[in-house]
Amino acid sequence: MDNGAARTAQPVIVAIDGPSGTGKSSTSKAVAAQLGLSYLDTGAQYRAITWWMVTNGTDIDDPTAIAAVAGKPEIVSGTDPAQPTITVDGVDVSGPIRTQEVTAKVSAVSAVPEVRARITELQRSLAAAAENGMVVGGRDIGPPVLPDAALKISLPAPAEARAARRSGELKGSDLHSTREALIKRDAADSSRKTSPLAKADDAVEVDTTDLTLPQVIECVVTLVEEKRAGK
Ligand code: DC
Repeated sequence: MDNGAARTAQPVIVAIDGPSGTGKSSTSKAVAAQLGLSYLDTGAQYRAITWWMVTNGTDIDDPTAIAAVAGKPEIVSGTDPAQPTITVDGVDVSGPIRTQEVTAKVSAVSAVPEVRARITELQRSLAAAAENGMVVGGRDIGPPVLPDAALKISLPAPAEARAARRSGELKGSDLHSTREALIKRDAADSSRKTSPLAKADDAVEVDTTDLTLPQVIECVVTLVEEKRAGK
């Protein structure tokens, strides 16, 4: 296997955007591992703050209540792509943040400006601390969060393909309802006032519809290597 760390010349930030179900996390993790970079799943951070609010009885329908407690939980992301971790106040929440309840509530929580400011601050400090650089998987990572990312990649795919992948991951959950839930969440995330989900103008698009995961990974690794070689 390649020694990615040895190939890494200077820190590079690679931002990978795209809606849920495009294989964004698996791609980001694998690219980071191959190139010896850190890895951050920003969706997991929004899910973690949502988990804390659900657990602490915050009224998710009340943006003022959400804003008032946005600074309370301590969210820590471990950025090793071989073993990414996420804790809230010292509790491992990597499982609980994937529940249907958190998934259903994360759009409302992540639309609150105080929540976005808090998470953005965490993202910037993790990116600054990543010695070799970082692959950041998420939805608004281009312009609003890390405008100086060296390379921005967008992974679009139609809702059908994304729902099929998600329901496979969720071990046979109903395809139709998974698709409907995805479309609903995309619409909420794209239409919110603060930092709506949008593709960066200078993002390179890699359409994942007809590609296998290894092909997508290979394609993104090549793009990063070309960028670093100044091509
Ligand atoms: O990628 P995901 O499904 O785990 O993301 C969960 C939610 O977090 C998504 O519905 C919107 C929000 N999110 C965001 O607002 N900005 C990001 N950079 C990442 C996720």
